[in-house]
Amino acid sequence: MAEKSFKYVIVGGGVSAGYAAREFSKQGVQPGELAVISKEGVAPYERPALSKAYLFPEGAARLPGFHVCVGSGGERLLPEWYTQKGISLILNTEIVKADLTSKTLTSAAGETFTYKYLIIATGSTTLKLTDFGVEGANAKNILYLREIDDADQLVEAIKAKKNGTAVVVGGGYIGLELSAVLKINNFDVKMVYPEPWCMPRLFTSEIAAFYEGYYAKKGVSIIKGTVAVGFTSNDNGEVKEVKLKDGRVLEADIVVVGVGARPLTNLFKGQVEEEKGGIKTDAFFKTSVPDVYAVGDVATFPMKLYGDIRRVEHVDHSRKSAEQAVKAIFASEQGKEIEAYDYLPYFYSRSFDLSWQFYGDNVGDTVIFGDHDPSSAKPKFGSYWIKEGKVVGAFLEGGAPEENQAIAKVAKLQPLASSLDVLAKEGLEFASKI
Ligand code: FDA
Ligand code: NAD
Repeated sequence: MAEKSFKYVIVGGGVSAGYAAREFSKQGVQPGELAVISKEGVAPYERPALSKAYLFPEGAARLPGFHVCVGSGGERLLPEWYTQKGISLILNTEIVKADLTSKTLTSAAGETFTYKYLIIATGSTTLKLTDFGVEGANAKNILYLREIDDADQLVEAIKAKKNGTAVVVGGGYIGLELSAVLKINNFDVKMVYPEPWCMPRLFTSEIAAFYEGYYAKKGVSIIKGTVAVGFTSNDNGEVKEVKLKDGRVLEADIVVVGVGARPLTNLFKGQVEEEKGGIKTDAFFKTSVPDVYAVGDVATFPMKLYGDIRRVEHVDHSRKSAEQAVKAIFASEQGKEIEAYDYLPYFYSRSFDLSWQFYGDNVGDTVIFGDHDPSSAKPKFGSYWIKEGKVVGAFLEGGAPEENQAIAKVAKLQPLASSLDVLAKEGLEFASKI
């Protein structure tokens, strides 16, 4: 098979790849110079839509509606855009071998691609219950969500099991967003997770209590402090029951599992330095191998604001890291320098009528402010994280755009807090004054 050669290759066709392609175009990439190679069958799209509007019973989002870069208010890059720019969008193509010494990638079908510069944008994959040897976990209708094909399977299962029973395993992002959307689809929903409260990676017990109360009000049953240890299936091989560690057995027509993600670095193992589970990069997303960059979920990078190194699995960083890497490549070609990546962590989620944003670092003491009563008609509340007297993190549920901007500013500037009590009392007003 003929070898295809490009100056720049992006392996992966997700959020980072799409934002990188747009930045390549802005920087003046020439026709024929850039290829995006993706295992998926569609052009890069805004992945967050898959756990939200894609699964709505009415008015569901569908491609081409949410191709990048609409999620950040930018131009929508349709497949034709890549053609017009002379960018090769190579879809349905999984890279199964990467040789960073000979600068060669090999696809599952045996095609080879060579490059001068490589951007690794392979993202993450879901952790599977079969990986942990959970009995019966390969039954039909035990579903995961990462890519559009997974979302299509979910849509089919929701249709096939109309008004049925769903068990959602996991209390993180997928768990919370999928429980809500399944409830909106009129499923009887039970959520199961091992921790004492949902989203412990970010939420304090007080923040979690609001969401748990709100979900309960919407009819979602929450079962905490236990895990799924086995499944039974019917004669068609479809899941029928979920067995919990605490001995309970739950009926289920559909099981959705969200027990975390793993960055896809396996192609590059032993060839590139890794740290904290990701590919180690500098502030320009350059890896330990010359001309190889890594962005998005797979990159472990210096977090200038906190003086440490981290990996971030959120969409804002995937967009910004991609843009930074492309700018850095063009600058290096021109013998110029650009500023080091200075990232302010920003995470968000939406479910039911709720919408929250978080900026900064969730370390230190916390205070909660505002109306966090789940039965309120229009709850609106937030939290600050205070470390060494400074406010380093801020969370807001139900904020208006200018209020979200105000908490972002707090997290960026890290103002001093006179006392936790004052902060709790001032609430959003504290942020508006900064
Ligand atoms: P991403 O996963 O987007 O893309 C990786 C691409 O590489 C995929 O197209 C994959 O097929 C491809 N690939 C992998 N290996 C390959 C190989 N060997 N050969 C070829 N192609 C390969 N974040 C947030 O801040 N707010 C939110 O609301 C959400 N919502 C959300 C919903 C769902 C369902 C998911 C799964 C994730 C989110 N996220 C999120 C997280 C966010 O979407 C995520 O951090 C970014 O998509 C990461 O972008 P990447 O480009 O790194 O990976
Ligand atoms: P997560 O890390 O957010 O949550 C994993 C959860 O799995 C834990 O909170 C825990 O409750 C649970 N868990 C772990 N082991 C378990 C077990 N054996 N049984 C039951 N529960 C168990 O991961 P996720 O929710 O699977 O999300 C996957 C990826 O998608 C992450 O990278 C996430 O950042 C991303 N994502 C982000 C958003 C967002 O930012 N709004 C939305 C959806 C997905």
